[in-house]
Amino acid sequence: MNRRELFVTAGAAALAASLPGRALAQTLGLAQREDLLLSDGWRFHEGDIVPPPLVGHDSAYNAAKAGAARGAASPSFDDTEWQRVTVPHDFASFQPISQDDNANVDQGYRKRGIAWYRNVLKFEDSDRDKHIELQIEGAATWATVWFNGTLVDRNWSGYSSAYIDLTPYVTYGEVFNSLVIRVDASAMEGWWYEGAGLYRDVRIVKRNPVHIITDGVFAHPVRNGDAWTIPVEVTLNNSAKLPADVTVTSELRDGATVIAQAKARTSVAGLGGAVVNMSLGHAAPRLWSPDDPQLYAVVTRIKQGDTVLDEVTTTCGFREQRFDANSGFFLNGQHLKIKGVCLHQDHAGVGTAMPEGLIDFRLRRLKTLGCNAIRCSHNAQSRAMMDACDRLGFLVMAENRDFDPAPDYMAQLQWLVRRDRNHPCVYLWSVFNEEPMQGTEAGYEMVRRMSAAVKALDTTRPVTAAMNGGLDAAINVSDAVDVIGINYQQGIYDEVHARHPDKPIFSSEDTSSFMTRGAYTSDRDQHVMAGYDEEPAPWGETHRDAWQAVNTRDFIAGTFVWTGLDYHGEPTPFTWPSNSSFFGILDLCGFDKSAALIHRAQWIDNTPYVGVAPHWNWKRGDKVRVMACSNCDEIELFVNHMSYGRQAVDRYRMNYWDHVDFSPGFIEVRAFNGKTQVAVARSETAGPAVALRLTPDRINMDGDGRDAQPVTVEAVDAQGRNVPLAQHLVTFEITGGTIIGLGNGNPNCLEAEKGYTRSLFNGLAQVIVQADNGAGGLRLRAGAEGLKTAQTDIGVASVRPVPTQATAPSVQMLDSWFRAPAQATAPDPSTPVDTAKWSWFRPADSLFTPLADGQSSLCATSITPFAGVQKEGGVIEFLSLSGACDVYVDGQMAGSKEDDPSNPLTVNIPAGAGERHIAVIFHPQAGQPYGFGGLARVRMAQDV
Ligand code: GAL
Repeated sequence: MNRRELFVTAGAAALAASLPGRALAQTLGLAQREDLLLSDGWRFHEGDIVPPPLVGHDSAYNAAKAGAARGAASPSFDDTEWQRVTVPHDFASFQPISQDDNANVDQGYRKRGIAWYRNVLKFEDSDRDKHIELQIEGAATWATVWFNGTLVDRNWSGYSSAYIDLTPYVTYGEVFNSLVIRVDASAMEGWWYEGAGLYRDVRIVKRNPVHIITDGVFAHPVRNGDAWTIPVEVTLNNSAKLPADVTVTSELRDGATVIAQAKARTSVAGLGGAVVNMSLGHAAPRLWSPDDPQLYAVVTRIKQGDTVLDEVTTTCGFREQRFDANSGFFLNGQHLKIKGVCLHQDHAGVGTAMPEGLIDFRLRRLKTLGCNAIRCSHNAQSRAMMDACDRLGFLVMAENRDFDPAPDYMAQLQWLVRRDRNHPCVYLWSVFNEEPMQGTEAGYEMVRRMSAAVKALDTTRPVTAAMNGGLDAAINVSDAVDVIGINYQQGIYDEVHARHPDKPIFSSEDTSSFMTRGAYTSDRDQHVMAGYDEEPAPWGETHRDAWQAVNTRDFIAGTFVWTGLDYHGEPTPFTWPSNSSFFGILDLCGFDKSAALIHRAQWIDNTPYVGVAPHWNWKRGDKVRVMACSNCDEIELFVNHMSYGRQAVDRYRMNYWDHVDFSPGFIEVRAFNGKTQVAVARSETAGPAVALRLTPDRINMDGDGRDAQPVTVEAVDAQGRNVPLAQHLVTFEITGGTIIGLGNGNPNCLEAEKGYTRSLFNGLAQVIVQADNGAGGLRLRAGAEGLKTAQTDIGVASVRPVPTQATAPSVQMLDSWFRAPAQATAPDPSTPVDTAKWSWFRPADSLFTPLADGQSSLCATSITPFAGVQKEGGVIEFLSLSGACDVYVDGQMAGSKEDDPSNPLTVNIPAGAGERHIAVIFHPQAGQPYGFGGLARVRMAQDV
């Protein structure tokens, strides 16, 4: 066969497999969209696989064709020995923390590099004509995607999603589909831990050919005088061959109550699009705010007659916002000081593959600080994160990763705005963080263009950029943004305000103060930083100074503290062995550092609060520095009932008592408003650790195979008090679920974050558990030498299963066969193929002309099975054989089919190395067509 024959036959098989031969009119009215998770069936290889060099003209010619991807991108590549993984999968989080392999300090000393993911997708015959889209929510970092051997996408951003239209390439029924993704996480887009691989969800979305495109509904309420309207913009697409006339409807719902409806008609050309605009109104909506995050739903449908072709529910919230150059930010007409934190989306144990349960936990922890805003530094975060901010009530500064108005990067910014512009939480679009060109005319021109691109998609939120310099240059970025974001540099606030009296200003980033949880003495040699808030980075400020500078200026709309939680990498001011940050108000697990006490005192206004540090486990004779943080009028410190005096609360500086004599017992800080005691904080001296305690975040979980949550691990004394200095090594056992990560908040810890053991750090550790599918119970047990074992039982409820995309194990096609001339005597199954005399064919559509009475027909092929089959044996599946026949493997009879009608046949192929000879001898009844009516393929026995 020459190169052109190969090309033609490959094309013919694909055509045969995909042409439905049905009336086009039937394409409309297909079932509504299915949004399917593609988490299972993945095979993973760490490291690159370079295809062999192309030698000779034919191989070059053939490789240059659609569908002809080579090496690991080829559908026929052997991945049977690759590791099975489920996605989301941050492969860097499985790596040891090590200085080997040139691991970068900012990536937490974890090796990243290149990796491959492969899967096989099954689509039903009933999926024909549907629009089929692959959605990769986040792949770190440079991702290349092949589908059925054709390159379908390159995504150079580890933070932007890829929506890939697979419709033209899909095959159905037993003709499986190959999906291959290569990620190159050698590339770094940031200076923090970025994870590696398919670290967010991958989905397949099946829709009617006439459908609403992904992120195709824009329905963000706006206020016009006393009335509220929702301008609804719907973008449609039609992948069918004919135009379609459709009705588009939208309704605004409050729970089950329909509040308003709108309708429009449009026509969408085949392979065309359309945009429909409608309007919904609400006379008196309940407004969304951080304190009352009220959400509504806009349900948008495409209909043809009474048939619903597609439906999308968009969450929205009614709220209006305004920045004032002199008095800051107003939400729904009320002044609101932004009390925000910067966050990277990364957590102990799981890295960037962050389950929703953990996102929720982290945000609830931040709520306890009085925090009302999140800066998604410095990149798009997950959909789940944005949904959680809507639901839990956080304003969000959404930030773009790359500062560049070139087309590829502009597309990332436009994607971000399209995806997130419906979220009531989003109140600012940030086009960059700390760019050296911020003080140049080029920087100004770049931002001008990026801001215009944002405005073309959303005019309801201002555009900002987080500037750490350049503000006094004659032309700089502050001239191109709506709101000036200043990182650090708190000394220039007044000057910038004077220079831009009409421009709102806020602190887009400040603080960067170092703290180790549970430590109260700094020891730079040991990479430990005390929790008294006295050691900021040289460019930063203490938690106290930063807030004071912001809160004493009405024209500064608010703050974003660097950072809410610690994150892997960037362990400034240290390097090895430190591998995660020291900046967090909360540690890498979300446990309080003493900065949490400071922020509660600063930020909580409506509830009396008092917190005290440190713990009360010292040596007799120690002189202890006590810090108390409160939002009340006065506080009084007691040590074992002895008063150390009352102090007027200083919400900016906090309150301190130095040289307090330690004696075992307790310290207590009582807080007063006027004469009334309104709050108390107490810390008792713990005795020796005697037992472990496990405390899950939630007592129930969903049995959907995805729900995950953190469990706190503590050492406790005989009275059940946390032992604050306990550092025991703890071993875990789990049933009914999986441990997906471990942590303890120690930035210097080199222990693995996967597995079954973890040391406590200053009394605490965290286990992240994921419940199995189905109803049941998850039981976690924890043991440590000398301590009583702890156990927690978490109820796992049966829930509606998450719809998933069907996948198949690796298959090897037997798609190149030869047939000997018919003969009257029984052929020898071991007869070698004679390519000069035998004819070549491909199964699936190869029924041969009938034989004469008593004749037989020998068909043969040879194959070197995939490594897994060579080692463990496998099966050969003939999906449809016509005519009685016998199948031989290496001359040995492997199975037979006695009668003529078309039927499948499966035979074993025993384990064995090297090339194998497969023969099928047909002996059909005279006059009956016979042969291969379906594909023939080999797969591992364990996969069947
Ligand atoms: C800022 C930067 C952050 C982080 C921080 C540490 O300049 O924007 O990403 O690196 O410094 O202090």
